[in-house]
Amino acid sequence: MIKSGKDIIFASKLIREGKLVAFPTETVYGLGANGFDAKAVAKIFEAKKRPSFDPLILHISSTEQLESVFKTPVPALITRLAEKYWPGPFTIVAPKSRKVPAIVTAGLKTVAVRMPKHPVALKLIKQAGVPVAAPSANLFGRLSPTEPEHVREQLTTIDYLVEGGKTNYGIESTIVSVNGNNIEVLRHGAITPEQIKTDFPDTNVSISSTENHIQAPGQLKSHYSPRKPLYLLDEMPDEIPEYVRLMLFEPHEVPEGVEQRIRLLSDKGDLLEAASNMFTVLHDLESDPEVEQIYALKVKTEGIGLAIMDRMNKAAYRYSTLASDDEIQI
Ligand code: TXA
Ligand code: MG
Repeated sequence: MIKSGKDIIFASKLIREGKLVAFPTETVYGLGANGFDAKAVAKIFEAKKRPSFDPLILHISSTEQLESVFKTPVPALITRLAEKYWPGPFTIVAPKSRKVPAIVTAGLKTVAVRMPKHPVALKLIKQAGVPVAAPSANLFGRLSPTEPEHVREQLTTIDYLVEGGKTNYGIESTIVSVNGNNIEVLRHGAITPEQIKTDFPDTNVSISSTENHIQAPGQLKSHYSPRKPLYLLDEMPDEIPEYVRLMLFEPHEVPEGVEQRIRLLSDKGDLLEAASNMFTVLHDLESDPEVEQIYALKVKTEGIGLAIMDRMNKAAYRYSTLASDDEIQI
């Protein structure tokens, strides 16, 4: 059993000593280490069982730290984005400073940086006094953790878990790369491309196609997978077998007699609320012995629906591409 509690000061000391600490952010739980300490960062990959080194996000607690993580002079557009969306679920990728070790960026010349909004995360980073490198605190390829229990189940070798209840968004941050006047969305999240376009009308906002950027886990076709078959449906099925649960992101008319097999993620049809419950419900269903398969009704790919369908397509990918259930290895 890993050590856990609410001691942020203790946790920040561990970070400074090169140890591993899981902590809550407003998106998902992160697994943190001192971002300027290459050896400490290497332990993150070991604990997550990531098969290869993939670039991590550096978490900071004040805009003064921008100059220590990005190449200087820091472009004005980065400062403007930071002022608008930080602290919050927004990650900026731009050329890195020399202080950032290669293991953090997997050898890339750019680094991903974010200032989280969660008070526990902010305090931890501030007290640690260094940028905290942190991927989501799950095992490679598994569901992202939105509750301390998810971290406890998956990561058994870390030094401390700061407990902070359920995360608010339950979906990882939006990632953008900034190049001159161009903002390219690399990963969808709560801050949508439309919102960025509206807030920064003087820039070119585009959505990256997977061909022209690196294949990091969040960009693989299969990721965030539950250990039970998950199928995405275009329309409401006529029947739902007893061993199946259907995830609904919004209220919907359902066939008679199957109400017990429905998991509604937002009574109000609020997709932001539904997104925040998505991983939590997937975790519940994958560990429920009565459930053998999971269905989910697709939502429109607009607004936060882009981020929801991005995660759900990845979670369902290996099931949707195989010919029959027999071939699935879980
Ligand atoms: O909400 C979040 O972003 C959470 C919390 C803990 O902050 N973190 C998270 O980290 O989702 P992780 O490691 O699961 O995903 C980080 C992603 C990588 O998959 C990669 O796609 C992208 O960030 N990334 C990092 N550095 C990059 C770079 N230099 N260029 C392009 N993409 C990069
Ligand atoms: Mg992740």
